Amino acid sequence: MKERERIVVMGVLSVLLLAWLGFLVHRSPRFPGSGIGTAFGIAGAVLMLMPLAYPIVKRIPYFHQRITPYVSMQSWMSLHVYAGIFGPLLAIIHTGHKFDSPLGVVLTAVLLLVVVSGIAVRYLLTYVSRDIKDKLILLQTARGDLDHAWGVIEQAPAELPAGSKAFVFSSGLASLGIGLPASGPAAEVTRIAESVADLEYAIRMDEFFKRWFARALNLHIALSIVFYGLLALHIGAGIYFGLRWLP
Ligand code: HEM
Repeated sequence: MKERERIVVMGVLSVLLLAWLGFLVHRSPRFPGSGIGTAFGIAGAVLMLMPLAYPIVKRIPYFHQRITPYVSMQSWMSLHVYAGIFGPLLAIIHTGHKFDSPLGVVLTAVLLLVVVSGIAVRYLLTYVSRDIKDKLILLQTARGDLDHAWGVIEQAPAELPAGSKAFVFSSGLASLGIGLPASGPAAEVTRIAESVADLEYAIRMDEFFKRWFARALNLHIALSIVFYGLLALHIGAGIYFGLRWLP
């Protein structure tokens, strides 16, 4: 279910970003105020109000108790996601790539950031959390293998007795960074130690991203509050300066 949702959302996001970037090659300044342009705007605005149902049902106990027995939070979240991605697409079409007014430019920018931050929370945070879990299991196994490989070395007789010509020669090469194709327990230790180091580094990177994606929820909420304020201003300005197509 969530997998299908992710594919749809990522598909619509690509269309949304392409539609937005269309302003580089296309402009239709009369479209937003035309009948069809306004219809896209109104439909987009109605859809973009729907994501609010989720926080309302989630945070207001009066609604939470009375609604969730019939419609689960998961369903409200799905509505949040689908309305929250299709609404902006209709809104971008509504713009006709007319980004003249500062309000229009900021409203569009904030809208896209709301969508991207929502996607970060919904998919990227879960993906990174799951990835960390998988890598920690791998790391545990690799560390076990490393202990075992060290054990083999401790048990094995010295490969190249210290002081022998061969030992001095290969250490000399090693100090120049020239490694002879190593084999045997020592090589095994090196190989596993490298993969342990790689895994540890990858986990640190994942944790860095997880911290940032976790912050994305606060950003998402803050941006959506700004977004609704700007949307109200935009609609208010549209009504105040008169809906051009109304007789
Ligand atoms: C117009 C577009 C959108 C608006 C205005 C919006 C607004 C909000 C708000 C106000 C919250 C806070 C809910 C709360 O904790 O009370 C929220 C949470 C969230 N939103 Fe959005 N959102 C939009 C689009 C999206 C999209 C497109 C996605 C993902 C694809 C998304 C994913 C999420 C997620 C995962 C949460 C956190 C849910 C939780 O942890 O409880 N949102 N959004």
